[in-house]
Amino acid sequence: MPDRVTVLLAAGGEAWEAPALRLLNGGASLVLKRCVDLTDLLASAGTGEADVAVVSGELSGLDADAVVQLLRDDVRCVAVGGDQDALTRIGVVAAVAEPDLALLPDVVGSAGTRELVVDPEPEREPSFDRAGTRGRVVAVHGPAGAPGRTTLAIGLAAEHAHRGHGTVLVDADPHGGAVAQHLGVLDEVSGLLAAARLVNAGSLDAAAFARCRRQVSERFEVLTGLPRPDRWVEARPGVLDAVLERAAEVGDVIVDTGFSLEDDADLGRPVSRNQLTLDALATADHVVAVGTAEPTGLARLARTLVELREHTDAPVTVVVNRMRDSLGWGRRDIVGMVEGYIRPAGVHFLPEDRATVDKALVAGRSVVELGDSALRRAIAEVHARVLAGHAAQKPPISR
Ligand SMILES: Nc1ncnc2c1ncn2[C@@H]1O[C@H](COP(=O)(O)OP(=O)(O)OP(=O)(O)O)[C@@H](O)[C@H]1O
Ligand SMILES: [Mg+2]
Repeated sequence: MPDRVTVLLAAGGEAWEAPALRLLNGGASLVLKRCVDLTDLLASAGTGEADVAVVSGELSGLDADAVVQLLRDDVRCVAVGGDQDALTRIGVVAAVAEPDLALLPDVVGSAGTRELVVDPEPEREPSFDRAGTRGRVVAVHGPAGAPGRTTLAIGLAAEHAHRGHGTVLVDADPHGGAVAQHLGVLDEVSGLLAAARLVNAGSLDAAAFARCRRQVSERFEVLTGLPRPDRWVEARPGVLDAVLERAAEVGDVIVDTGFSLEDDADLGRPVSRNQLTLDALATADHVVAVGTAEPTGLARLARTLVELREHTDAPVTVVVNRMRDSLGWGRRDIVGMVEGYIRPAGVHFLPEDRATVDKALVAGRSVVELGDSALRRAIAEVHARVLAGHAAQKPPISR
């Protein structure tokens, strides 16, 4: 039975062990082994047969390192009892309070497979293939306040595909992916989690990666993002690097990232909450920094431009979104401000255009696919700066 979730149980002698065993052997899951302690659990996970570890929240030695070691063996950790906040911080996927034990089968079920199953479609031919050349990686980043990272990343990818280039859009926002929703990809499977799982298992080959992606249009494919913000922990360091390397084998790659560059891989966290964003920026050949044109947006953008210097050596193109005349400053003022912080590859402006973005959101399409608009023309200008004329062969990624 391929979709039975296999479980290792390490209850540390707690009284809930017997009822948990009964609940978890009920049908959708199967307990492979009762482990006597953490050492036993880690060794058992190493056999590669288990999907989920159900552990006592008080299990002796359970810490961030142990959780990451389990993830490397592709085993997600669900805790029963203990301090839920502290457990979530060390990377436990879900924590169930002891009185709620009846919820355990559901929690284990969703931790186990649902969002992680790759497309069962048999060996579909990739819709495009670069035949041995490597595509470019463009990371779209920007500060908090929803400046339009996703809208722009989708627009750039759609424009690039529209111009005849194989394009992979990777949703790497660690705070929860939105690309699938924007594009109407109604699929419960997370391409990114599926790919992460394959990386952990050492089996992300070209065919497996093709099954993780979804097709949007003829030359436009998407790797959908995290289904819930709390799954960020599975993007341990190295996962996105491997994914982007594969993606660049099949096309030029646009990466939608999160808003924060803070490296918070301490305070008991196994990896930084922003690991995906940091990895995307470190790998990118070109970074697009997007901010909004109003005062708070520009102040945040300025801080981002300063912070970016520490995270990438790639050229940075600045995009100021939602530009409108009523703000009282012009393009020249903003270009001057930007150049006070960095030497940009270019500074571009996207107009405030609620009607077009709303139409795109409702239709589940990119603004590019809707036909001509001021916003689309502005995105095409950014595309020309960042991606046009760059579809040439490049050497393999080196960091
Ligand atoms: N040029 C524009 N004119 C009007 N509305 C826009 C424009 N660009 C983006 N928006 C709207 O702003 C909102 C945020 O955009 P988007 O989701 O792309 O931002 P984000 O930076 O990815 O945000 P998040 O932090 O949620 O990931 C959306 O409702 C989007 O439709
Ligand atoms: Mg977004």
